[in-house]
Amino acid sequence: MKTAKARLGIGDFQIMPAPRHRPHLKRPVWIIVLVCFVSLLLIGAYIYPPQSSGTCYIFSSNGCKTFSDWLPPIPAREFTDEERAARVVIRDILRTPPVQSKNAKIAFMFLTPGSLPFERLWDKFFHGHEDRFTVYVHASKEKPVHMSRYFIDREIRSDKVVWGKISMVNAERRLLANALQDPDNQQFVLLSDSCVPLHNFDYVYNYLMDTNISFIDCFVDPGPHGSGRYSEHMLPEVEKRDFRKGAQWFSMKRQHAVIVMADGLYYTKFKLYCKPGMDGKNCYADEHYLPTFFHMIDPGGIANWSVTNVDWSEGKWHPKAYRASDVTFELLKNITSIDESIHVTSEAQKEVQVRPCFWNGMRRPCYLFARKFYPEALDNLLHLFSNYTSI
Ligand SMILES: *[C@@H]1O[C@H](CO)[C@@H](O)[C@H](O)[C@H]1NC(C)=O
Ligand SMILES: *[C@@H]1O[C@H](CO)[C@@H](O)[C@H](O)[C@H]1NC(C)=O
Ligand SMILES: *[C@@H]1O[C@H](CO)[C@@H](O)[C@H](O)[C@H]1NC(C)=O
Ligand SMILES: *[C@@H]1O[C@H](CO)[C@@H](O)[C@H](O)[C@H]1NC(C)=O
Repeated sequence: MKTAKARLGIGDFQIMPAPRHRPHLKRPVWIIVLVCFVSLLLIGAYIYPPQSSGTCYIFSSNGCKTFSDWLPPIPAREFTDEERAARVVIRDILRTPPVQSKNAKIAFMFLTPGSLPFERLWDKFFHGHEDRFTVYVHASKEKPVHMSRYFIDREIRSDKVVWGKISMVNAERRLLANALQDPDNQQFVLLSDSCVPLHNFDYVYNYLMDTNISFIDCFVDPGPHGSGRYSEHMLPEVEKRDFRKGAQWFSMKRQHAVIVMADGLYYTKFKLYCKPGMDGKNCYADEHYLPTFFHMIDPGGIANWSVTNVDWSEGKWHPKAYRASDVTFELLKNITSIDESIHVTSEAQKEVQVRPCFWNGMRRPCYLFARKFYPEALDNLLHLFSNYTSI
């Protein structure tokens, strides 16, 4: 074999014309011609990217856009066993179409210390739609006194909740676990004791049911109250560039709720390394776990804004809370007509990120609920409810 190959080699050499012996074209000219030709080819390819699917398939599995797609991708980090296991479970849940319930319901999950001051308003909201919703109440401090039949016997087993600690996320998971037991529940809305509805039931139901995304708030805050809270202890699973922030008040589809139940890996990272006093910084898991997690596993499946409006425009530690005198038809009309979401970063120069709200590709108002309202606002809200929910 060896000798045969060697002989063939020699043979090839003998057949090849030897360009360097050509007298009329010297080596530098050849190189210049070659370089020019290749350059023209590259410029041509950049200006007119190849359109045939065959070429695209070779260079990029995502179709053809620009010449930069031809460059080899940055090699992905190799997943750990736990990550691979988590990812494969998540991908399978996302790929499995949800079981179509004949009687699809929305789970309204209330996270509250005790009694809900706006039960009478919610009673008005729910009335007449009995077969299309379920209510769950997680009362973390004291047993609530109920004013509406829709809330009686709807408390789940609860535990203490400390603001900013993982116990907040645990309460959210507890609510999801209880609400998932009803196979009719298709959307899972997390609400607080200071939240009120902004629209009538039909509007809310259609808004949440007629789309396949979850309304989970998610944005990049490069400042100290965003990425500044990240801890490298979260590596390798959670990288700093994936760290996100968002308000905890979500509405999530059933597939996403199941994924939250299935997640132990990323949850544990946040439980251990996103907490007040971590590495001398205060990280709040309820503001970072779900936004970061869903950004990593299903970025296109979340809207990136919450359907619960809150007014941070005063720039204080707490959002604006509305007193009875603030609650006018004009205020509610203003909130219901907002059709762009606003995020403000925590850097010194406070970048304001404004994004239009698109619902199934159409520009729509962003919000279904609002907070925070003082209990004294109840009477005004009851008085105005049928008016503002009809706009
Ligand atoms: C949602 O549904 C649309 C079509 O109705 C589809 O194109 C899109 O991929 C779906 N998105 C998700 C996250 O399932
Ligand atoms: C949400 O933001 C991510 C980027 O973080 C983006 O990929 C995704 O398309 C956005 N979701 C929607 C529904 O636009
Ligand atoms: C409603 O919005 C208008 C226009 O932005 C503003 O001038 C007005 O003060 C708002 N009213 C209330 C009650 O928020
Ligand atoms: C409700 O709206 C109607 C028509 O716009 C108006 O006449 C009525 O005064 C409003 N009621 C309240 C309580 O604002």
